[in-house]
Amino acid sequence: MSCAPGKPCREGLLRRRALAALGLMALIFVALSAASFVDERGQVVPTAVAYAGFDAVEGKRVFQSYNCMGCHTIVGNGAYLGPDLTDLYAKVGPAWIEAFLPSAGSWPTSGAVRLKLQDAAVAADAGTDSIEAYLEKYPAAAERIARRGAHKTMMPNLPLSATEVGHLVAFLKYTSEMDTEGWPPTPRVDGLTFPQATPLPVLQQASLAPVAPTGPVASAQTQEALGAQLAEDNGCTACHSTGTDTLVGPGWGGLYGSASALADGSTVTADDAYISQSMLEPDARIVAGFEPGAMPSFAELIEPDQVEAIVAYIRSLGEQAP
Ligand code: HEC
Ligand code: HEC
Repeated sequence: MSCAPGKPCREGLLRRRALAALGLMALIFVALSAASFVDERGQVVPTAVAYAGFDAVEGKRVFQSYNCMGCHTIVGNGAYLGPDLTDLYAKVGPAWIEAFLPSAGSWPTSGAVRLKLQDAAVAADAGTDSIEAYLEKYPAAAERIARRGAHKTMMPNLPLSATEVGHLVAFLKYTSEMDTEGWPPTPRVDGLTFPQATPLPVLQQASLAPVAPTGPVASAQTQEALGAQLAEDNGCTACHSTGTDTLVGPGWGGLYGSASALADGSTVTADDAYISQSMLEPDARIVAGFEPGAMPSFAELIEPDQVEAIVAYIRSLGEQAP
């Protein structure tokens, strides 16, 4: 800016005004920044958040080392392949995330979440150890189980250890407690008509309830069908395929009646007793090539007649296999 000779010149005045406005903005910026660190605002900090003995600072490191942000957004950063994780913990709760993260590529069933609630520390953070109360408290977990439980997920099966999962849950708990001023926004789909915007079918409440213990079962057919349902509800199928593929554990196809090689070098015939024991005391006999402790015990979760039904189901897979 320059003044034409002989005209009245306001350049100095305008410059001073611009500098004053800039100074005022800078002052506001510094004041607001300082205010965001004031404890009384109740902002959470990662060092203050813990989950089941794991801490959020460590969880952030795990999150970064697996490059979760290469696919997910969190607190406004990241990539858009996977869903935003900022407030997932508040929506689905700790037991669902615990069941999802190491789940061998499939979405958790209610049985898998129920299993996590057996852990006192997880139940304490979730605020309940009953699956019914949990699903009521975290409807988004109930919705995921109803829509996708036991289905394949596009999320890669990462080799997360139990400790890393604990740390990650602590980190997700921290981000869900942050005051993000409404981030992430809820997509507005109401009133839109194209297919992608159509709301999902209503939840089938029936499939949320764990399968009721049974009375005497009439035919072998229903016994096997019940066993199949129980294997899915209890999350067995997240680790065991019904064919011969190894997921986390050995496949069930052709298992019944076969000679199963054990880690101690012996062999055992996979009969009713062996398969029942595998469910109730998984570490009593370890299959060759696997580590003890990989399969949880279902002794507290499955009734004796349910064990029978699952055995019948596994037997039926043997009969079908070549
Ligand atoms: C290669 C990309 C990729 C990476 C890396 C990845 N994810 Fe995912 N994740 C996905 C996708 C895709 C989905 C959605 C899966 C689906 O819809 O089947 C998903 C789903 C999830 C969900 C369920 C979200 C919901 O709303 O139900 C969680 C939790 C999750 N990921 C956590 C993580 C964590 C923690 C890490 C890092 C340890 C991670 N992800 C790394 C791609 C990825
Ligand atoms: C977290 C993963 C996981 C879940 C869930 C799981 N298992 Fe396993 N299972 C394994 C692993 C790993 C092994 C092999 C190590 C061993 O013998 O304990 C195994 C072994 C077995 C065996 C012996 C297989 C053989 O080839 O001899 C049977 C039978 C079995 N599981 C049944 C079940 C049933 C029934 C359920 C559900 C009620 C279930 N498992 C849930 C991981 C799992």
